[in-house]
Amino acid sequence: MSNVKFGADAWDARYSGDGWAYGQEPNRWLEERITPLTPGKALFPADGEGRNAVWAATMGWQAHVFDLSEVGKEKCTQLATEHNVSVSYDVDDLETRNFDTEEFDMIACSWFHVPWNMFTTHYPRMLGALKVGGHFITEGYHTSQLEMNSGGPKSSDLLWNLDEVMEVIGNGFEILHTDVETTILDESDLHRGKARVVRIHLVKLNT
Ligand SMILES: C[S@@+](CC[C@H](N)C(=O)[O-])C[C@H]1O[C@@H](n2cnc3c(N)ncnc32)[C@H](O)[C@@H]1O
Repeated sequence: MSNVKFGADAWDARYSGDGWAYGQEPNRWLEERITPLTPGKALFPADGEGRNAVWAATMGWQAHVFDLSEVGKEKCTQLATEHNVSVSYDVDDLETRNFDTEEFDMIACSWFHVPWNMFTTHYPRMLGALKVGGHFITEGYHTSQLEMNSGGPKSSDLLWNLDEVMEVIGNGFEILHTDVETTILDESDLHRGKARVVRIHLVKLNT
């Protein structure tokens, strides 16, 4: 069980160059769930090169990102300029970031995997930034993805078991969708082919 963080330098290296590590299009699950929602203020944690935040900004969302990568921020700025929108982007770490309570109408992230002890402490803290009625939408790799070759961390400590994830983050939320699915990814060379994913869409209750 690895507890080592894939650090900012490694993400900077991944995002360096002209290509787009996970493509320029939004994650399909996020796109499907966000499209029917009324735009408001949204946080896109760990959005890397900014593909989800930039797309959401074109849909009318006020989009905010935090991510470890300086290069990701530069790529996000480039993508936002190409789409004639603006996205606010903090280079920051989930582990040390301060979150205001009840700030966002939506928090949405794709493939934001962190070591399990960080997940259990900091995902709930991050979700505290959602307003009552706010949406949390995410897609991550399931533990059974370890046997697949279509992307994701090669450590079970970072992969998701749906029941365990919901035990950590589900309290105080209505479930609109939770499932473990087999899907075909076609995001980029890093995320292509048959994959085992966890898809979650929750709404914050007034508790
Ligand atoms: C697999 S990439 C996904 C990027 C983006 N969500 C997408 O789907 O295109 C994971 C991202 O998580 C970010 N990340 C990892 N650990 C983080 C942390 N502790 N705090 C903030 N961002 C982190 C990385 O910098 C990287 O951009």
